[in-house]
Amino acid sequence: MGIVVFGSINMDLTTYAPRLPRPGETLFGHSFITVPGGKGSNQAVAAARLGAPTRFIGRIGDDAFGREVLPTIQQQGVDVSGVMVDKDHATALAVISVDDQAENAIIVISGANMALDQTDVARCLPALDTAQVLLLQLEVPLEASMAVAQAARERGVTVVLDPAPARPLPDEVFSLVDILTPNEVETEAQVGFLPNTPEDAARAASVLRARGAKAVIVKLGARGVYYESSSGSGFIPPFRVKAVDSVAAGDAFNGGLAVALYEGKPLPEAVRWGAAAGALAVTRPGAMPSMPYREELERLLKEGTV
Ligand code: RIB
Repeated sequence: MGIVVFGSINMDLTTYAPRLPRPGETLFGHSFITVPGGKGSNQAVAAARLGAPTRFIGRIGDDAFGREVLPTIQQQGVDVSGVMVDKDHATALAVISVDDQAENAIIVISGANMALDQTDVARCLPALDTAQVLLLQLEVPLEASMAVAQAARERGVTVVLDPAPARPLPDEVFSLVDILTPNEVETEAQVGFLPNTPEDAARAASVLRARGAKAVIVKLGARGVYYESSSGSGFIPPFRVKAVDSVAAGDAFNGGLAVALYEGKPLPEAVRWGAAAGALAVTRPGAMPSMPYREELERLLKEGTV
């Protein structure tokens, strides 16, 4: 098994409108889609579409959304043998608004995702025995994710944590992380300031590395990506693409990053893979459907634009 993803699986109910509503306001939208999502399963689908053997460990409910999302993920080439059907909790869902500038706001109802416990950790262990990269996020209980991170660390598996949704984390978490990949608001939740420039991102990365993360990648959205590790630092400028929907761009990034690491590419090249994967995801609507394929990623890396 190349890449193991321990995390969330959601059904996304997504509306498109000229702008995001203000509190108390009713807006007319353009359109609505129901598509599979969830930060964990989006990352798993990105990794599989980009060509790495990928297993996803998580939970769905015994309900219509669960019966729809699981086969979709499987059809993308993800090994879902580690997914459990939870009789006591509903499949998680996300209510998403996207505006004409491709910005989004998301509310998640966690359901089965937040029921992950030590039994799910145990289901993850066999896959970790032969994995190169573990992908984690924060839509499932932190305790379970950290147990998986510890097991991965003991097996020499590279641990990548996407600290999303944003929440402050204790230092013990950072010490189990090889690569931390916050976006701007997730960086602010850890360091107390919003990085707007590569210089801000460098300042934040130093703080996070001092707290225990081995490498830090700060995703600055349309402004590019800053990375820093003990081997050096760098900045990847953004790829030029037409943005229609930024939902799951960060998930595509982590899928691309993981596949490059799995293939033995050095960190600067892996960050470029992540940036290209994220850029492709913003060119089309929806979370999981927007995850990129290998051929288009290689084309973007070569030509710099789509
Ligand atoms: O990162 C995007 C994802 O966040 C969406 O698919 C939604 O399900 C939420 O989890």
